[in-house]
Amino acid sequence: MPLIIVRNDITKMNVDAVVNAANESLLGGGGVDGAIHRSAGPGLLEECLTLGGCKTGKAKITGGYDLPAKYIVHTVGPVYRDGKHGEKELLESCYRESLSLAKAHDCETIAFPLISSGVYGYPKDKALKVAIDVIGDFLLENDMTVYIVIFDSDSFKIGGKLFKDIEEYIDDNYENERTDRDRRRNERFVLQSTLCDGIEDEIDEDYDERADYNCEFVCESICSYSLIPTVNDIRKFELDESFSDMLFRKIDEKGMSNAECYKKANIDRKLFSKIQCNPDYKPTKPTVLAFAVALELSLEETEEMLRKAGFALSHSYLFDVIVEYFIVNKIYNVFDINEALFSYDQKLLGAI
Ligand code: APR
Repeated sequence: MPLIIVRNDITKMNVDAVVNAANESLLGGGGVDGAIHRSAGPGLLEECLTLGGCKTGKAKITGGYDLPAKYIVHTVGPVYRDGKHGEKELLESCYRESLSLAKAHDCETIAFPLISSGVYGYPKDKALKVAIDVIGDFLLENDMTVYIVIFDSDSFKIGGKLFKDIEEYIDDNYENERTDRDRRRNERFVLQSTLCDGIEDEIDEDYDERADYNCEFVCESICSYSLIPTVNDIRKFELDESFSDMLFRKIDEKGMSNAECYKKANIDRKLFSKIQCNPDYKPTKPTVLAFAVALELSLEETEEMLRKAGFALSHSYLFDVIVEYFIVNKIYNVFDINEALFSYDQKLLGAI
């Protein structure tokens, strides 16, 4: 999963580079700047003193000192006024400059805080959108694992119409575990009782007192019998298209390159190669759904692809209901979906 949103303290992140939301002096401050300087130790300040400051929207790199990270990229975000003074462009530049510095230093992993979303007042949902858009574009052309580190969970909530729409969809569709289990038990009972009615009629006609069948036993044997596949079933089943067959067929049909597909799915290149080399590869559900989003599949096609991997969408799982909302509404941006999943404390789409 090239882009991952996590809850953590950025000073704890074990990555090649952490990004510091600094000020133009680069001599430390509060917030994430203060936390990084405290954890990195005095050596960091000594090196910063040699840098001569940093302009807003620009970035400079130092060693990581006592941090687990090898490097610290210091970038200065814009102070948010009203969004009409070039704040977005400056914030985009912070991410772009930091990523290119990390790339120039052969970093494979990097962690960002939500730049400017604290003291500098950038609204968190807008700040996250900028981060996801710029990092998403960068990952279309580059291989790197990028973490967006959210520090205070209560301060993170997707906002606006999208959140309201998702909430409504959840209210209409999400069944918690218990109701779903009750529903499944009722369905089974109905099935058995209809079967039993049918069987009871047969038994009435040529009742044989020796065969003291009770309904459950007969139902079970009928049910279990009907589930035993015949040789033809097995032959048909074996001939069915596998998950990876369907994946590559859909990539062709959509006229996409493999790279376009796995990058749009937030899937790591190495994992994609594994799927490519092993036709029987068993993906996880988030991986299948990430490909379904990247291929812009309909809900029916998504359910077909899930079946081929041994999964199904279920309204008793919030994760499934949220992803289904985006597919039903044809919002095929895996990063937007992950933003929503993250705000509901769900696992994310994609895979490493
Ligand atoms: N790990 C990850 N994120 C953190 C941490 C941490 N340890 N501490 C704070 N944050 C988050 C905040 O919750 C906020 O979402 O980092 C984001 C950026 O907040 P600030 O650190 O206040 O940075 P910013 O808004 O860019 O303001 C920069 O603040 O600290 C001073 O010297 C800094 O003058 C500069 C200004």
